[in-house]
Amino acid sequence: MDRQPGLSVRLKLTLSYAGFIMLTGALLLAVVWVFLLRYIPWRLAPAPWSIPDRIDLLAAFLPKVAIVLAFLLVFGLVGGWILAGSMLAPLTRITNATRLAANGSLSHRIQLEGREDEFRELADAFDTMLARLEAQVAEQQRFAANASHELRTPLAITQTLLDVARSDPHRDNGELVDRLRFVNTRAIDLTEALLLLSRADQRSFTREHVDLSLIAEEATETLLPLAEKRGLTIETSGDITPAFGSHALLLQLTTNLVHNAIVHNLPEQGTVWVTTSVHPKTVVLTVENTGEKLTPHLVSTLVEPFQRGTGRIRTDHTGVGLGLAIVKSITQAHDGTLTLTARPAGGLRVTVQLPAAPLDTGR
Ligand SMILES: Nc1ncnc2c1ncn2[C@@H]1O[C@H](COP(=O)(O)OP(=O)(O)OP(=O)(O)O)[C@@H](O)[C@H]1O
Ligand SMILES: [Mg+2]
Repeated sequence: MDRQPGLSVRLKLTLSYAGFIMLTGALLLAVVWVFLLRYIPWRLAPAPWSIPDRIDLLAAFLPKVAIVLAFLLVFGLVGGWILAGSMLAPLTRITNATRLAANGSLSHRIQLEGREDEFRELADAFDTMLARLEAQVAEQQRFAANASHELRTPLAITQTLLDVARSDPHRDNGELVDRLRFVNTRAIDLTEALLLLSRADQRSFTREHVDLSLIAEEATETLLPLAEKRGLTIETSGDITPAFGSHALLLQLTTNLVHNAIVHNLPEQGTVWVTTSVHPKTVVLTVENTGEKLTPHLVSTLVEPFQRGTGRIRTDHTGVGLGLAIVKSITQAHDGTLTLTARPAGGLRVTVQLPAAPLDTGR
């Protein structure tokens, strides 16, 4: 392991430990010395009988002190080295795991066993972070693979159409142009949806005071001709619903939901309900529609990018499957929550819960 020149933490801990033991030992010996002195006179006049004086005591005491201190030094160094090593062992494992993660291996986990202490807490937090990162990277890879696949499809169709046209120069070009245009429009829609998704994910938009009920009205009005064409009724309700966010993105969110509620509805005589409501700390947009019965499992997968439900619901609408993924990204960028529930009678109920607008800057 490469380390910058300098003392390792293990060595520093060992030296501090040994130093501390030496100091304690020296203090103890000093106390003993002072205690002994009280009973021993200073230099006595030479006398025939021999009573030990302080000089004799010093001569007897000093070598013992030296031996004890030397023993304490060795004990402190060896004990400190072993103790510091065992204390720092988890750190080595955490460092190794960090190195592996830095090299791109996110599947490794520290899984530190033993008592709950600070190292265990650090290791567990690190493991949680690795698990999250790994899931996120996997999701992004899946997304990139799906996006490339989806983008390749219109290009491949275009290629085939062009090949067919080249092999048969007498064909009617009008039809070819129409089909090319249709395929191209789809490719543009897909690219725009992808761009929108990344914009919402980056949270790079300005926030302003908006009225969610007005946004719902705007989206519904735009989509009314589509609903009428399909023989659907749209019912809207809700008073002023103040929220704080990007007008353009929230309009996109509502449009996607109402559009879904229209195109994934019953073939005829369906209904769409668009409601906004104000609660103490949140504002809620609910878009509900009649339609085919959906299983809870299917509903839980619909938000995934490029997920298109059963595909049986209506054949004349072939979306790219990013509508709900965009709704989810926009909701998250506004610190809100998105909930999808299957209606017992068939169809879907989508709820977007956003934090209520802050009261400060007046409208
Ligand atoms: N309101 C709804 N009622 C019933 N099913 C729905 C509803 N909204 C979405 N779904 C199902 O969820 C799938 C995913 O919806 P999403 O909006 O993400 O994609 P899409 O509508 O297929 O395509 P687009 O990207 O053009 O919106 C749809 O294909 C449909 O099966
Ligand atoms: Mg959609």
